[in-house]
Amino acid sequence: MSTVPVILAAGKGIRMRSNVPKVLHTLAGRPLVEYAIELGQKVGDKPALVVIGHGAEAVRELVGVRARVVVQSEQLGTGHALLQAETELRGNADRVLVWAADMPLLSSNTLEAVVARQRENDGPISLLTAVSAHQRGFGRLVRADDGSVQAVVEQADATKEQRSICDLNVGVYCFDTSWLWPELSRLQPSASGEYYLTDLVARAVAQGLSVGEITVDDPVEIIGINTRAHLSEAETASRERINHVWTDQGVTVLDPANTYIAASVQIGADTIVLPNTHLQGNTRIGSGCTIGPNSVVRDSVISDGCRVECSVLEEATLEEDVDVGPFGHLRSGTHLARGVHVGNFGEVKNSYLGAQVKMGHFCYVGDATVGARTNIGAGTVTCNYGMDKKKHRTEIGEDVFIGSDTMMVAPLTIGARARTGAGSVVTKDVPADSMAVGVPARVITRESAPGGPEEDG
Ligand code: UD1
Ligand code: MG
Repeated sequence: MSTVPVILAAGKGIRMRSNVPKVLHTLAGRPLVEYAIELGQKVGDKPALVVIGHGAEAVRELVGVRARVVVQSEQLGTGHALLQAETELRGNADRVLVWAADMPLLSSNTLEAVVARQRENDGPISLLTAVSAHQRGFGRLVRADDGSVQAVVEQADATKEQRSICDLNVGVYCFDTSWLWPELSRLQPSASGEYYLTDLVARAVAQGLSVGEITVDDPVEIIGINTRAHLSEAETASRERINHVWTDQGVTVLDPANTYIAASVQIGADTIVLPNTHLQGNTRIGSGCTIGPNSVVRDSVISDGCRVECSVLEEATLEEDVDVGPFGHLRSGTHLARGVHVGNFGEVKNSYLGAQVKMGHFCYVGDATVGARTNIGAGTVTCNYGMDKKKHRTEIGEDVFIGSDTMMVAPLTIGARARTGAGSVVTKDVPADSMAVGVPARVITRESAPGGPEEDG
């Protein structure tokens, strides 16, 4: 007996008041439909089928090869949406497990419990229910005196008395398809012209068939997204869930209410995440790090023992014991080797800084390679953008001393152990072990160099 997951994701999401299809809105940094796809990969025996419609092409692209899709070209309600799956699934599925892509906090355990309930049910439907005084606009369960479910009444169609019912239809169902397909095509439209999937409950009862029921344990799971307010509520709940996962694994999250860790992020034990820190995308953080406060780390790799304070990192790689900030900006393609320090108001882009490089104050390093142990003085700039409107590289050797306020006009190579004087504008290559000073800089021998060493901050 095969069970196929079917995800309803075609609706307009009118209540979001958005040009973006509802299922593409993000929760903890990921589009809602991704949560459903991921659940679909965990439950059921065959690949999930996603019913798409509103914004179909964008949703189809995001689903990619992770699930099959079928298009509901007119959004005529949830019953009509499921009917679109029939052609694809007829003869291939004994049961379907159906839920809406606007419920990203559902767990696979809950979905599996609904399938398990239906396996032992003589009747054709099992559904997920919840009891809550906060009804969220859900369909209400009308019960017989013996407690059995008789019908689901949608809020829009409910009487005043029915609206006060706290027994709710969560919107997760498992159906036997031999009964489902013919019954779906017999559904009648509601007063508003929609074909309600939920009407199948009353149809089964009218035929004397039993409706199975599972009650959800964790109220967080039933947060469905119909409005922006629901999205904020889900974001808070999801943030709490994610932060719990990390604190359970030995990460200190000092102020969970103000720490924003995307679902996709990985963090090692004994790392401390300080308030107002946003860890996003494909970010991996090692152990024993301190990240934050007031930092954004996106799609970056931070190895063990690093410190990142009040800084923004995008597609950057940090080896062990790197120290960034306060107020560093590491942009795409930055690779900092072990023990590098990038300090106050330093910006690095598309550059490799070798082990123990120090870059303490007000610097821009772009399209550069910097050798190990080199010191980059305050206010230094790699002038990488040429008058030819192309980006040029700067190669700096090991143990180089770049004096404060040096402008390095790329393309340029500065040899190992060379030095530049404070305020020099270097336009030509500087050989190893030499010193360049002045504007434009000229190379003088190291022995005749004026002045002592520059401050390194
Ligand atoms: C639905 C249920 C309600 C339940 C609630 C739980 C119906 C009639 N009502 O109401 O009993 O308590 O979910 O969240 O089913 N969709 C389509 N095509 C359509 C319409 C909707 O694919 O033509 C999809 C939507 O994208 C969404 C899902 O079905 O993912 C549910 O639609 P929505 O409009 O949010 O229904 P609710 O009002 O939440
Ligand atoms: Mg909904």
